[in-house]
Amino acid sequence: MFEASVYLNRRKALLERMSSLMTGDKGVAVFLGNVDAAMNYRGNDYKFRQDSSFLYFWGVDEPSFAAVLDLDSGDECLYGNDVDIDDIIWMGPQPSVASKGELIGCKATAPLAEFDKVVAQAVSAGRPVHFLPPARYYNTMKLSSLTGVAFESVRKVAPMDVDSGRHASEELVKAVVSLRLIKEQCEIDEIDKACDLGYLMHTEARRGCKPGVLEQEIVGRMEGITLSKGWGVSFTTILSQNGETLHNHSHHQIITPGRLLVVDAGAESNTHYASDFTRTYPCSGKFTTKQREIYDIVQQANDLAFSLTKPGTSYWDVHCATVRYMLEQLKALDFVRGDVDEMVAAGISGLFMPHGLGHNMGMDVHDMEDLGENYVGYGDERQRSPLLGMGNLRMARNLKPGHIVTDEPGIYFIPALIEQWKREGTDKGFVNYAKLADYYDFGGIRLEDDVLVTPEGARRLGSRRLPITSADVEDVMANE
Ligand code: GLY
Ligand code: MN
Repeated sequence: MFEASVYLNRRKALLERMSSLMTGDKGVAVFLGNVDAAMNYRGNDYKFRQDSSFLYFWGVDEPSFAAVLDLDSGDECLYGNDVDIDDIIWMGPQPSVASKGELIGCKATAPLAEFDKVVAQAVSAGRPVHFLPPARYYNTMKLSSLTGVAFESVRKVAPMDVDSGRHASEELVKAVVSLRLIKEQCEIDEIDKACDLGYLMHTEARRGCKPGVLEQEIVGRMEGITLSKGWGVSFTTILSQNGETLHNHSHHQIITPGRLLVVDAGAESNTHYASDFTRTYPCSGKFTTKQREIYDIVQQANDLAFSLTKPGTSYWDVHCATVRYMLEQLKALDFVRGDVDEMVAAGISGLFMPHGLGHNMGMDVHDMEDLGENYVGYGDERQRSPLLGMGNLRMARNLKPGHIVTDEPGIYFIPALIEQWKREGTDKGFVNYAKLADYYDFGGIRLEDDVLVTPEGARRLGSRRLPITSADVEDVMANE
């Protein structure tokens, strides 16, 4: 964890932002950490992962903690139970809750049962009770039972003056998002470390990409690296020769010459900061001409997006410029025909890249997505597009130093989607289906780096960049 002053300053900043968003009785902000969750029976739990916002403000990386910040008085308290003899028998002696409070600069601590009472008192006194929409069901139920807010409303976000505040707090969501979006130097250092770990994972994957090897074996080896040096993976590894399925989690195929292998994977550091890289490899070590043509477009699109990423522009504009470039190149190869600007406006790029250019990244690989994608990636700056592809852009904001985004263009040939567009005329006559007919077994290509927006422009995170040009990929594969 970080020094106590980091957590203290974050809570102080939160208090200030909440005060600037509200007048009158501000109420209390309540935070629930995660609890252990049974995997197949109680006592055999999933590996514990703390709630990221709890970790951000309260630092305690253990189950069954909660906290309250009084937005009127500024008082704060960390709630948790000291271990008893039963716990000591199974888990060994543990530091006291008071000592955990000291580590995060929180002087007041109390048993967990007190938390329930404090929340109940705030509710019965009619004070606003601000909470974030929880990612997990247990915390959704817990908040519902503590506050009396209906289960289905606990994850709804709205301003507190709507429906007597019987839902998650938009004010708290906005304040938390505004803080967590801009990474502190100590966080950037951790993300750099997670990226270095991601580099090692991906290097192992590339080395394992040899005809005859089972995909699962590669996944096991690359995940072993992050487990041996960090917390584990930052999301379920995507490693598949069916890369046209964007989030393909099945790893049962044998590496086959002539196919492409998409590897989209990341590490999570022990302090819970993520990395997220994607590379696409030719299974035989060399790209075919057909593969290289598409690969080079994606690789140049990745470079273009990076070169455009800087303060003063928005990631919306970077996405648009990138898909425009890809459409120009696809037009040169006769996949599409007509005016490129009209194609961009009609959303034709969505056929080839149904996802957005990137997302925010931090403690969550899609940072804070549990708080609501639009609050995180759009704010009040712009409205989400209804178009396929553009509509899946998770980060559209004006870029500021301290933002961390992924740069992950891709081109995919998804037979079912192509057939649907053809049937329904979605392409408005821009798409050359005769050309596409030869690409139904092509798969997909995605290339992803993690990028920090700096005052001057941008920097790719991690001390080394994974090989990415088609020539560099072939060279490195030939020698390992
Ligand atoms: N790396 C997976 C994703 O960005 O969705
Ligand atoms: Mn990603």
